[in-house]
Amino acid sequence: MATTTRRAAITGVGGYVPNYVLTNAELESMVDTTDAWIQSRTGISERRILKGEGLATSDMAVAAVQCLLDKKGWQATDIDLLICATVTPDMVFPATANIIADKLGCRTIPSFDIAAACSGFLYALNTGATFVESGKYERVVVVGADKMSAIVDYQDRATCIIFGDGAGTVLLEPSEQGTGIVDSILRSDGAGRIYLHQKAGGSLKPPSHDTVAAREHYIFQDGQPVFKFAVKNMADVAEEIMQRNQLNSDDVAWLVPHQANKRIIDATARRMGLSDEKVMLNIQKFGNTTAATIPLCLWEWENQLKPNDNIILTAFGGGFTWGAIYLKWAYSSTEA
Ligand code: UT7
Repeated sequence: MATTTRRAAITGVGGYVPNYVLTNAELESMVDTTDAWIQSRTGISERRILKGEGLATSDMAVAAVQCLLDKKGWQATDIDLLICATVTPDMVFPATANIIADKLGCRTIPSFDIAAACSGFLYALNTGATFVESGKYERVVVVGADKMSAIVDYQDRATCIIFGDGAGTVLLEPSEQGTGIVDSILRSDGAGRIYLHQKAGGSLKPPSHDTVAAREHYIFQDGQPVFKFAVKNMADVAEEIMQRNQLNSDDVAWLVPHQANKRIIDATARRMGLSDEKVMLNIQKFGNTTAATIPLCLWEWENQLKPNDNIILTAFGGGFTWGAIYLKWAYSSTEA
């Protein structure tokens, strides 16, 4: 007798980016850089910044989830579980997911954060999918949200040109039609922390006058080694997930890469044998929004996705953490 596999399928997406556009031209007035350098080394022209007193990561996440709920015609109380991937939580504790749920009006549902830097959305999506596959929950919302401007040093030309703010979200529901998340590979290597971290503010180095004076509450990145690890590892996992699912480049409809640097994305697509038309790319206008890059792509491309499209998500970031997820798209947003 044939058995049906219960998979977790993405059945809705939402996104939010703040209105303020930080252009390369404005950065030229802040640090010793040029539009030409930024565009040629990263592919970025502008990024969005959340301005305003009292606004935090949770506010962008709430807007993204509300966008998703409005499209579905749902209430926040229809959500069974909410997971938020972020490295810029509103506070060290409680979890930003708890705050999002409170602001949405579903404050007693289970909710928690996942910290896996730029791979956070992949880790959170995989975690959410496991709850759906097991039958524990039916409607899981996974958010990737980061207010990177809160931890960017706008005196450091090597990092301030890269990052932006934003939030993206997906809804996971059970599917027994063969669509949904088919396979995932998640990896980490904590030895990579020496190249990419925030020095102070944690239990190792609690905040003090000295840590503030030394500008240790900002992102520290040694860009070149991170670049080399990212190119190799993102391409390796993307290729591995294709091979073990017997996918060739014609079978793959879309690559959804973490948007850290256009050169890293191009190298990954080349290794997978994919042409540019199959690669979701919005780094030029949003920069690197850390946990939000992948769901923001899905939000922007939703209208072009068709049921059973083979989609590969892949990311690399702080930790180091990296991974790839292979999924079959479940719906058409343009169908009446
Ligand atoms: O998403 C989390 C994971 N992060 C990543 O994946 C980021 C990976 N790394 C990168 O994307 C790149 O390493 C960067 C974009 C950060 C830097 O690009 P690069 O081509 O690796 O530059 P570099 O660090 O090797 O620096 C080359 C030169 C240096 O000058 P000298 O020493 O050759 O005179 C830098 O000081 O470029 C200089 N430079 C800049 N020049 C103009 C560094 N930043 C800038 C800048 N404008 N903004």
